Amino acid sequence: MARLDSLKNRLDSSTSRSRAESCATLRHPEHQQRILEEIHAVKSAKLDAGEDAGFTSHDYDSMPFFNACIKETLRMYPIVVTLARCTDRDDVIPLSEPVISTSGEKLAHIPVKKGQRVIIDITSYNRLKSAWGEDADKWNPERFLQPKTLQQMTSLGVYSNLLTFSAGVRACIGWRFALQEMQAIIAGLIPMFEFSIDPTIDIYRAQLGGMVPMVRGKEAEGSQLPLKVKPRASSLNEA
Ligand code: HEM
Repeated sequence: MARLDSLKNRLDSSTSRSRAESCATLRHPEHQQRILEEIHAVKSAKLDAGEDAGFTSHDYDSMPFFNACIKETLRMYPIVVTLARCTDRDDVIPLSEPVISTSGEKLAHIPVKKGQRVIIDITSYNRLKSAWGEDADKWNPERFLQPKTLQQMTSLGVYSNLLTFSAGVRACIGWRFALQEMQAIIAGLIPMFEFSIDPTIDIYRAQLGGMVPMVRGKEAEGSQLPLKVKPRASSLNEA
């Protein structure tokens, strides 16, 4: 029942994510152009083969840079910020890298007591330099296309070594659905419109339940992501 309740709560989270996807590529028109070229290439190949121009899930998955941009967005802007767990026994949490405790002790594992609350920070892992490289704080979809970087990554979670959909037995059961929703929305919008953002607007990541975009100085208006949307010349020609 709890799983069904949380299913209901998650249904709109992937559409919020598509909105944020636009946010990340907004500042990179050259990346929107690369995505557009991949979409056109797949569409042309389908038409040349006498197939329907509508995209299948295989078509969406076949576009490397398009998917790299989605992965990079999910990495940098995970909508769920933390995971909370409660331990069912005294135990230790093993660490891949030692940490320094508040008393200055170097810890190779963290002891936990039965009933203790453990908070897992998705944003920290998703930007961990030892997993993602020195540019972990920077938008760089190429990292998902370079085998060298991928080899350095830990193997974690249900999708592309990201913690965004959590990991293990309680990982997100809607991740594939969410991904296809994002792929369909982006592949539908990018050929029609050019997206950009006014560089004078300061947008930052705020935690409001989940991670949401917020305009600095306009917090009272709630979460928002003001976009400039221009019809593409090619889409006007087609109309
Ligand atoms: C980008 C969109 C999404 C993200 C980032 C996301 C992320 C997550 C995360 C991090 C969890 C683990 C929460 C926890 O353990 O505390 C989770 C669980 C869950 N997600 Fe998603 N989710 C997304 C979309 C969806 C969609 C579209 C559905 C359903 C259609 C869905 C259904 C669920 C359900 C039912 C759980 C609970 C699983 C369980 O506790 O066993 N999610 N999701």
